[in-house]
Amino acid sequence: MDTLSNSSSVSEFILLGLCSSQELQILFFAMFFLVYIAIIVGNLLIVITVIFDNHLHSPMYFLLANLSFFDLCLSSVATPKVIADFLRKHKTISLWGCMAQMFFMHFFGGGEMSLLIAMAIDRYVAICKPLHYKTIMNHRVLMVFLLLSWAIGFTHTTSQMAFTVGLPFCGPNVVDSIFCDLPLVIKLACTETYILELLVIADSGLLSLVCFILLLVSYIIMLVTIRQHSSSASSKAVSTLSAHITVVILFFVPAIFIYAFPFNSYSVDKFLSVFYSIITPLLNPIIYTLRNQEMKAAIKRLSSQYIGSWLDL
Ligand SMILES: *[C@@H]1O[C@H](CO)[C@@H](O)[C@H](O)[C@H]1NC(C)=O
Repeated sequence: MDTLSNSSSVSEFILLGLCSSQELQILFFAMFFLVYIAIIVGNLLIVITVIFDNHLHSPMYFLLANLSFFDLCLSSVATPKVIADFLRKHKTISLWGCMAQMFFMHFFGGGEMSLLIAMAIDRYVAICKPLHYKTIMNHRVLMVFLLLSWAIGFTHTTSQMAFTVGLPFCGPNVVDSIFCDLPLVIKLACTETYILELLVIADSGLLSLVCFILLLVSYIIMLVTIRQHSSSASSKAVSTLSAHITVVILFFVPAIFIYAFPFNSYSVDKFLSVFYSIITPLLNPIIYTLRNQEMKAAIKRLSSQYIGSWLDL
């Protein structure tokens, strides 16, 4: 009866990290550390600005703030440990720590994916049904979108992790990456994992591919629609849309590479995993704040208000 727990003799995994050179490790430590701080500051700034500035109380900015919140969570799942690991000679992680990393990465990743779809729907309604925008994108619809994002993230991760937590690990326990991810860990199980590999390809790879294509097509339709109504507002709309498209590409392309063709070459995956730990969560605030006039104006208002009240004290 107890064969499963007996054969599961591995209690921790060894992470190889990005490279073995001591000097580069210190460089990576400094780089990741600074970028992680920028991620926290940038995304918190977006969340705080949207919540406190009345001009930004629109569905698009609420969704953007929630995206920033997901970015904060996504980058905090593994990055702090990745940073600390750069200074460690032996980078180990417990079996359950590894499972938790995979669970939460896919939880927040799935949620973020759903939110990107919600943001596309929001822009679609704004551009293709402008007269009905206020009635369609009301508070209740927004709340449903948000709840759905959390629910989809949860369903997505649970559907894969339910079959992963029970895997027996008895053999090699070396993960050639900076954190645990499904394709790498599943490969280490000492059992037949063919079905599970297919499940991950379908659940993470194909899903990302299909969402990516649908999102690109819908953004192209919106761009074409804007060009037909050549108005003064259209250049602003084009710049908003191109920001959204950039974020969509940055989020989905690495995911498609990692999960849609996962079980043959891992060396690339290691560098793609850097995307989800520091690059994507950093670029979202950069893209949305630096290129967005309303956001910049709101941050200025907020900071002058804050400094003003501080001087009054
Ligand atoms: C998410 O969006 C809702 C609007 O439906 C908003 O009330 C909430 O403050 C947002 N959450 C964050 C973290 O920005």
